[in-house]
Amino acid sequence: MRVSAVLGLTLFLALSGCENYDLDLHDQVSYKIQEYPRFRPPENSVTIAGDRADYENEDGALLVNPHLGAKGMLERGKELYNIYCIPCHGADGTTNNTPVAEKFDPRPANLMDDAVLELTEGEIFQRIMYGTGVMPGYKTDLSDEEAWEVTAYVLKLQKRE
Ligand code: HEC
Repeated sequence: MRVSAVLGLTLFLALSGCENYDLDLHDQVSYKIQEYPRFRPPENSVTIAGDRADYENEDGALLVNPHLGAKGMLERGKELYNIYCIPCHGADGTTNNTPVAEKFDPRPANLMDDAVLELTEGEIFQRIMYGTGVMPGYKTDLSDEEAWEVTAYVLKLQKRE
């Protein structure tokens, strides 16, 4: 009797401190994504992508691809387009009935529409970086150069290059 009582008490004490901890790392008592308090990056710190220029408020009509003519640009642009843009715009830029596209209202633009054909390359670059309407921006996924590569590939799809 006494032995099992001691055992029970020891077990109780051993386990009672553990209720907040879970072997599953996802469920531990730490701050979760977007949970307060959020920590700001230290002042003057630079992200691993470097200190990036902000093109959002610049005149898109004046922005030009600084990498034009770079070797392999269209190949890399196609590769990136097929990762980041296909889910909503389709491989040829005209499809907007993919399972992802159907979730959007308005539906993703047909990249061959006159309104899109009239955008300058700088305006397309801005749409890719910062999004437009309900389309999300990709500036956290793509470097400036990569966004220009996708832009060049979009122009190629539109047969403007
Ligand atoms: C998650 C879905 C989604 C993805 C992925 C996506 N788009 Fe879009 N895109 C949209 C939607 C939705 C619109 C229409 C936005 C609106 O009118 O509110 C749009 C519109 C556009 C337009 C037209 C903008 C205008 O002003 O007429 C361009 C150009 C464009 N997308 C290019 C791209 C490129 C290039 C990529 C890949 C980097 C991309 N999109 C990835 C959903 C997406």
